Amino acid sequence: MRHIWKICLTLVVLSAFVVFFTSVDDISLNQHHVQSVFSRDEMESINFTERVTPGVKICRRDDLYTFSAVAKPSADWTKYTSIVITSWCTGSTQFNCFLYSTNKNIEMVKATLSRKRSNHGRPKHCACQYTCNLDNEYHQIKGYLTQVGLSPLKDIKEDSCPQINKYIYPTRQSGKMAICSKMAYGSQEPIKLIEWFEYNRLMGVDRIITMVQLINRDAYKVLKYYNKTGLLDMDIFPSPLPGIDIKKNANCKIKDRTSCFKEFSQEELKDLPWRHFRRSSPQGEHDQMVALDHCQEKLQGYAFVANVDFDEFIVQSNLRNIKEYFNDTILPKYQNAAGFTLNHSYFLANWGISGDGFLQMTQYTQRVDPRYVNYKNVYIPSRTASTTTHELTPKSGFRRIYLKKHHIVVHHYRTCPPVAYWKNCMNFTRYEDKKMLKIRKVMEERALNVKRELGIT
Ligand SMILES: *[C@@H]1O[C@H](CO)[C@@H](O)[C@H](O)[C@H]1NC(C)=O
Ligand SMILES: *[C@@H]1O[C@H](CO)[C@@H](O)[C@H](O)[C@H]1NC(C)=O
Ligand SMILES: *[C@@H]1O[C@H](CO)[C@@H](O)[C@H](O)[C@H]1NC(C)=O
Ligand SMILES: *[C@@H]1O[C@H](CO)[C@@H](O)[C@H](O)[C@H]1NC(C)=O
Ligand SMILES: *[C@@H]1O[C@H](CO)[C@@H](O)[C@H](O)[C@H]1NC(C)=O
Repeated sequence: MRHIWKICLTLVVLSAFVVFFTSVDDISLNQHHVQSVFSRDEMESINFTERVTPGVKICRRDDLYTFSAVAKPSADWTKYTSIVITSWCTGSTQFNCFLYSTNKNIEMVKATLSRKRSNHGRPKHCACQYTCNLDNEYHQIKGYLTQVGLSPLKDIKEDSCPQINKYIYPTRQSGKMAICSKMAYGSQEPIKLIEWFEYNRLMGVDRIITMVQLINRDAYKVLKYYNKTGLLDMDIFPSPLPGIDIKKNANCKIKDRTSCFKEFSQEELKDLPWRHFRRSSPQGEHDQMVALDHCQEKLQGYAFVANVDFDEFIVQSNLRNIKEYFNDTILPKYQNAAGFTLNHSYFLANWGISGDGFLQMTQYTQRVDPRYVNYKNVYIPSRTASTTTHELTPKSGFRRIYLKKHHIVVHHYRTCPPVAYWKNCMNFTRYEDKKMLKIRKVMEERALNVKRELGIT
């Protein structure tokens, strides 16, 4: 037994070395098959010299990249009073909003820089939001405006590089719950994604948003499947991300992310390390905040929104439906809550498989004690000013509630994080936790059905 344990440990250490060394290598994408994921806006944008037509963004400015334009409803949802444009920006340029309507008019109003993130350092491009106020009552009617452009000029037609986005009109989704899983990228095991989606479906989650980047083909298949069933919005992140020198990366020999859509379209992406997809701090933090801000705007009609990733599961001790639990048990206790902060319960893969089966939730049945580390939030959008990966800021009159005494935590299935806090993780006290076995049968059935349907082995 001891012997086997040592072999396992050696394997874990070895694979950690492999990951480390491949990540410092300057791997050429030419050696890999790449699943092409285009930004909808940039489908037509490969030719950077072409002129702009509304709805298609075909060039990049240094001071602004607009990602989405979402209408902001009045408190009673009878009209839309402004447009919020979630972007990457430097914040140094004064922009005007150009409102495109169904009858082909273009009207100009001043844009206000309504948010520029300054937490997590100052990268080249911060996560920003610009707001265009809608005073004209026609503009406030759902569907009247179709697109919005930002330009520093007085006439957008003179601008060789305006930023134009289609309008998104959020709608009220009373009593419903959504998840923002910031980004989907790299090499993801399809079965783990299926497990995560099926769990959240079982727990009452109505809608999920993720920003898709380059990802392996089978994982992409899973995402497309859940999009087709109506659960998932795949909101494609631009590639390369704003701020990367496009010309410099055109040869695909990149450390960061790829711009080589053309050469690698329709093929599969193999296991490249995360740095090929995700930028490091501080820019990476701001990329994540663009994703979270976009989610918050788009999901503002929902009763509850959780910011959790694909390896995190919100679990109530008796495996109650989490949407119902928040609605009927937690919310009535905290009537002025803006949102709830949940402890993390780590199920560390480094400890080896303690259970059995093919799902993480049955394989890993040992965890550390749930703790206030890397905590995550479930928030009520109408009462929340802003969120980041781990924090939430209430609107005035509302409170952030720390759920330290309730039977609900985030299960996090992963390896020991490579930071000082976890250095001794092999020696952390292990607690047996088999509560997930309560839903084993239904989860296995569901996961197998989806696998079969997708032809994934
Ligand atoms: C890009 O578009 C312009 C204008 O339509 C055209 O003249 C040029 O040849 C195109 N370049 C490429 C590389 O296709
Ligand atoms: C939320 O809880 C209330 C009671 O507190 C109930 O009347 C309502 O139907 C619940 N809504 C949903 C969507 O579960
Ligand atoms: C996914 O589904 C939604 C509706 O359920 C749809 O509007 C959207 O265009 C689909 N595609 C992507 C890539 O999100
Ligand atoms: C959350 O973590 C804190 C300390 O890290 C602990 O005191 C508390 O009991 C935990 N609560 C739950 C519900 O796990
Ligand atoms: C873990 O505990 C063992 C003894 O139980 C000890 O020999 C070892 O050094 C500890 N590991 C670390 C990383 O502290």
